[in-house]
Amino acid sequence: MKFYVTTPIYYVNDVPHIGHAYTTVAADVIARYKRAKGYDVFFLTGTDEHGQKIEKSAKEKGLSPKELADKVVVNFKKLWEKFNISYDHFIRTTDDYHERCVQEIFEKLYKQGDIYLGEYEGWYCTPCESFWSKSQLIDEKFCPDCRREVERVKEESYFFRLSKYQDALLKFYEENPDFVKPKTRMNEIISFVKQGLNDISISRTTFRWGIPVPFDPKHVIYVWFDALFNYISGIGYGYDHEKFKKFWPADLHIIGKDILRFHAIYWPAFLMAAGFELPKRVFAHGWWTVEGRKMSKSLRNVVEPNRLVDTYGVDAVRYFLMREVPFGLDGDFSHKALAHRINGDLANDLGNLLFRMVTMTIKYCGSKVPQPTDKRDKELEELALRVVEDVDRFMNEQAFHKALERIWELIRAANKYIDVKAPWALAKENKKEELNNVLYNLLETMRLVGVLIYPFMPEKSAELLEQLGITKQPAKEDFTWGLLEPGVEVKKGKPLFPKVDEKKIAEEIEKEITETEKEPSEKEPLISIDDFAKVKIIVAKVVDAERVPKTDKLLKLTIDTGSETRTVVAGIGAQYSPDELKGKKVLYLANLEPKKLRGIMSQGMILAADDGKKIYLPTLPEDVPVGARIR
Ligand code: ME8
Ligand code: MG
Repeated sequence: MKFYVTTPIYYVNDVPHIGHAYTTVAADVIARYKRAKGYDVFFLTGTDEHGQKIEKSAKEKGLSPKELADKVVVNFKKLWEKFNISYDHFIRTTDDYHERCVQEIFEKLYKQGDIYLGEYEGWYCTPCESFWSKSQLIDEKFCPDCRREVERVKEESYFFRLSKYQDALLKFYEENPDFVKPKTRMNEIISFVKQGLNDISISRTTFRWGIPVPFDPKHVIYVWFDALFNYISGIGYGYDHEKFKKFWPADLHIIGKDILRFHAIYWPAFLMAAGFELPKRVFAHGWWTVEGRKMSKSLRNVVEPNRLVDTYGVDAVRYFLMREVPFGLDGDFSHKALAHRINGDLANDLGNLLFRMVTMTIKYCGSKVPQPTDKRDKELEELALRVVEDVDRFMNEQAFHKALERIWELIRAANKYIDVKAPWALAKENKKEELNNVLYNLLETMRLVGVLIYPFMPEKSAELLEQLGITKQPAKEDFTWGLLEPGVEVKKGKPLFPKVDEKKIAEEIEKEITETEKEPSEKEPLISIDDFAKVKIIVAKVVDAERVPKTDKLLKLTIDTGSETRTVVAGIGAQYSPDELKGKKVLYLANLEPKKLRGIMSQGMILAADDGKKIYLPTLPEDVPVGARIR
């Protein structure tokens, strides 16, 4: 049996952060679990390297887009090594087999009429790489997903006939209600599609960094059309037919909820058009905040994944990510919560249990796994077998937190079992047979725990099993009771999870965050005085003002700059009426490129304070002369 799991391919404009680590660890957990269960697994991850965003970000850094990608890919690969991510292939969208695949499918869809040439007129959000219509924007200018300002796009473009697939998609959702998980997200998608789908623009002409449309190379293919097909090019489509046939369709695409629309609507529609089977499931997990705040650039340092691994150890971090928040819901990453999990779940419940058992086996059984008898009680055995079954169910539902919760019920039951059975008393009373049975039950439970935690904490699982004399990596046959062999020698190892100082950690992080918040926001790039000298801001006087028809906010102003009269369109009409502006002195950015707004050529810009809700025009002294420069 095969299992094909993927992560999103991450943009290379940014260094990897805890959000990326989260998705990738989740995919690794399921990949390891399925491998251990005997599946032939393919686990694909990689990077998304084309598009306007990457081009822009490279330019800012003075690099070519490919140079930027080459650099960032190293960061991703190193981090995945550090997190013990067992991917089978790392795809880059600049890989030639991928580019060929995208071009081939683009051309095929064009020939069969699913792609056609038209003109796109609307708005584009570069950070999200997504197109919006005016009615979808917030306040007519912000992206509904990330709330950043969008830019106007009007260009010749190829379109994908998404509208044609509306009914087929709805039918598919109905027949496959578990296609999107969690269920609430499936419902969101269904109601979105029911509202009607428009054809989507899938090529651009205003920048170069992308895969060219093969038959019309002044167009580059839209980055999402390019990126989504990584899931088939990454397993051999077009160059390794056997592999592709074996692994497609994907069993599980793990993504964050931010990119669900692309995966649950566009992707299946593209696949239907191209004649491929559809993936079995898209799981959209929730969003992490950091220490109770939105993950800003500077806060990311506080949870920088390399640093977390260096501080706490890789498996503690993996455990925390999978245990702290129900998979599918939003959650908060805090050092305090992590430290608490380490000391509680990991050091106390699990680490101590192992330590006590190994110590008792050494002391009472000459370091050897004792021989149990038929008279032994089945309490732990029965529970353990139920846990193994439940874990399997939870893993198949991607309920990783529940799987761990259940494993910890077994761990706690074992801890309680020690206290109730009191092996030390049995030893004292010389009840050898019962003592052996009790210790065997405990050691075998511990072995199963070692097997069950393997996908989550591969290193700690190995350390644990090694203390029980087992060096083999967990496999299919190990998920059952009674495999620990009597006579095998146990070994005391170092504590599985050293405790951490919760209080000290909390204090240090608190301090660090306070410092961070004092810094200029978001590490804005600094400009030199020469940069500023290019900006010509002068005092100007409004001589005439009128509203731009059919708008709430736009005013057409005629201004006197001291040397000439100019026309400016200003978005200050919600707070200021034309009458109150006439005669007013304003700050005016004089050397801005002219731009046509609502059919009016606007020259320069009126400066105002903007708190996101309201606009405030600065007040200038009565006697300041028109034309005076601000420097
Ligand atoms: O969207 N909490 O790439 P991307 C949880 N290239 N997960 C988070 C997160 C957070 N705060 N921040 C990021 C792209 N993620 C496209 C994908 S796929 C064909 C193309 C994770 O670099 C989460 O998995 O912006 C999210 O979906 C992904 O990073 C977005 O990564
Ligand atoms: Mg993103």
